[in-house]
Amino acid sequence: MKYKVIAILLLVVAALVYSCQSESEIEYMRYYTSGQELYKTRCQNCHGAQGEGLAALIPPLSDSAYLKTNRTKLACYVQNGLKLPLLVNGKAYNGQMPASGLAPIEIAQVLTYVQNSFGNKLGLHNVAQVNGELEKCN
Ligand code: HEC
Repeated sequence: MKYKVIAILLLVVAALVYSCQSESEIEYMRYYTSGQELYKTRCQNCHGAQGEGLAALIPPLSDSAYLKTNRTKLACYVQNGLKLPLLVNGKAYNGQMPASGLAPIEIAQVLTYVQNSFGNKLGLHNVAQVNGELEKCN
């Protein structure tokens, strides 16, 4: 009897854990697929279909370490554009990225796509995080 109760409790816990996981998985997939469309129309011209960049002019989006270090600044870069000397994948860049005109939710989607493509595996970057980061752009 005791074991039955324990077994049922374990099943309930397992079901709860599973449903939570799949909910966040669904949220992640929504961001990722919308981000993929945005990437194609708004970023791919410059950064390339594989995030490979363009010679010495446009940096690649495949440098996970760079993206991770600068994670909380990426939303500002995409919103306002960027004109700074950069070191990406060990190479120096000093170009100019124009402001995107994207809404915060779109920035979150495209950043989730970029940070989980081209060999990156940096997880969901949701709109709440983006909104917080956009308040701190300089
Ligand atoms: C007109 C070309 C152009 C477009 C369009 C563009 N970028 Fe960029 N991007 C650049 C350039 C050039 C730099 C480097 C700027 C610098 O050196 O300061 C850059 C830098 C970056 C960086 C930081 C460096 C790196 O390689 O990780 C990120 C992240 C980024 N872009 C993401 C995006 C995303 C996401 C989009 C689409 C919403 C986008 N860019 C659209 C040209 C572009």
